[in-house]
Amino acid sequence: MSENIHLHFENITKIYRGGSADGSADVKALDDVSLSVPHGQFLAVMGSSGSGKSTLLHVASGLTKASSGNVQIGETRLSSLSDRQLTHFRRQNIGIVFQAFNLIPTLTAEENILLPILAGGTPSCGKAKMAEAMDQILHRLQLTDRRKHYPDALSGGEQQRVAIARALFTDFLDENSRNSLLFADEPTGNLDTANSEIICRLLRELCDERKHTMVVVTHEPAMARWADRVIVLKDGRIFRDMSAEEFRSARNQEV
Ligand SMILES: Nc1ncnc2c1ncn2[C@@H]1O[C@H](COP(=O)(O)OP(=O)(O)OP(=O)(O)O)[C@@H](O)[C@H]1O
Ligand SMILES: [Mg+2]
Repeated sequence: MSENIHLHFENITKIYRGGSADGSADVKALDDVSLSVPHGQFLAVMGSSGSGKSTLLHVASGLTKASSGNVQIGETRLSSLSDRQLTHFRRQNIGIVFQAFNLIPTLTAEENILLPILAGGTPSCGKAKMAEAMDQILHRLQLTDRRKHYPDALSGGEQQRVAIARALFTDFLDENSRNSLLFADEPTGNLDTANSEIICRLLRELCDERKHTMVVVTHEPAMARWADRVIVLKDGRIFRDMSAEEFRSARNQEV
C-alpha cells in the first residue's frame, strides 16, 4: 500500500445478522466497499438514510467489526489487534465525534475534553504540558470563556465544539503529531448555518495546517463543499466518488 494512504478499506462487507425490522432477515449495511483515503484529505460521506454511512465510520474506527475484508490505518491492520490493543490504538490515533455529542452533563467543558485521556490512565506528559495543550485547543475552538461551563449551559454549537476538542485533544498534546485521523458523524446535524460554518471552517483549517485526515458524514451539500472529495453511498456501496470540483459542478447543474 502506498505510504501516503492513511485509511484503507479493502473489500469491506458488513452484515447485521437478523438486522431487518422484524429480525427475520440479515441487513447488508456495507457491500464490498474498497476505499483509500490519503493523509490530509477531507472526505465527505453522503447518501440517503440507511445507506451505510454511520456503519462505514464504525467499521473504520474499529467500533464495529467488518464481516469480511480488511481495514488498515497507516501500517496497522485493525483485524490484527486484540480488543485491548484496539482500544489503545483508537485512543492514540483516532478522534471520533458522534452526532449526539455524548458530553457528560456533570463535567465541565474542560473536564469533558480531558475525559478520554484520563480514562487511559495518568498521561506521561505532565500537568504543564496538559494545561498548555488545553489552552491551545480551547482558543482554537473559541471556547476559552466557556471552559468552566457545564454542557447544559452551552449552546448546541459550543457543545459540538467541545466534542471536537475532545476528539482532537491527544493530537494537541503532541506538537509533532501531524497525522491524526478524525471521524465525524453529521457534526453539523443540528446546528444553524452560522455555527455549521464555524465547524466546517475549523475542520478545513485543521486539515490544511495540521495535515489531519477527516472522514465526515453529512447530509448537507453546504458542508460537503468544504471537502476535498465527496463519496455518495447507496445500499452499502460507493455509488459516486467525486473530487471537490466534480461535486461543485454536479451541484451547479442540479440548480
Ligand atoms: N446495530 C444494527 N443492527 C442491525 N441493523 C443495523 C444496525 N446498525 C445499522 N443497521 C442497518 O444497517 C443499514 C445502514 O445503517 P447506517 O446506520 O449505517 O445508515 P446511515 O447511512 O448512517 O443512515 P442515517 O443517515 O439515517 O444515519 C440500515 O439498514 C440500518 O437499519
Ligand atoms: Mg447514520
